[in-house]
Amino acid sequence: MSLMSSERMIDQQTKEKIIEFAKEFYSKLDFAHSLEHGERVVSLALEINKSENGNSELVEIGGWLHQFHDDVKYLKSFLETLNLQKNIKDNLLEIVENCRPQLIDHSHSLETRIVFDADAIEVLGTYGFIREIFCNIKHRNKTWDNSISDSIEVNKMFQDKLMTATGRNIIIESNKTLNNFLNDYHFWRNK
Ligand SMILES: [Fe+2]
Repeated sequence: MSLMSSERMIDQQTKEKIIEFAKEFYSKLDFAHSLEHGERVVSLALEINKSENGNSELVEIGGWLHQFHDDVKYLKSFLETLNLQKNIKDNLLEIVENCRPQLIDHSHSLETRIVFDADAIEVLGTYGFIREIFCNIKHRNKTWDNSISDSIEVNKMFQDKLMTATGRNIIIESNKTLNNFLNDYHFWRNK
């Protein structure tokens, strides 16, 4: 069931509980998926939503919860403890479960596609590329060259997967800058 863009269905106390629960989760993750990542995805999702007109409450809370795609079971059991309408829980779970490049497609709700794009942009453009490289080196222990080449592959995949026109538009210039940088990088790397 879809909701109107400004319809509010989650009371303030429940919203605060959900955000606290999400913050606790981010605090246990690696440096690239810290609280800052959660905050940035929420902020990007709300920015995209200004033009896409999804339900802003679902976009915001979905943004906070998106990283539970790593542990959907844990999120489900937490949502069961809250006084939330079933359709809200279902909408939030749809956002989280499908926030994956292998699962996302145009049949999903607008809010799901918006949150997916916000998370995708975290690996796109100049900022996302550096973030991905750092994650490859520091967290995944990849070599210099593999860190770069794998980040390029991730960049291509997520660029192709972007689900909203707004998501594609807001990152386009940063990706052009990145492509210029990479052309120059490869020129010097191959000398
Ligand atoms: Fe994420």
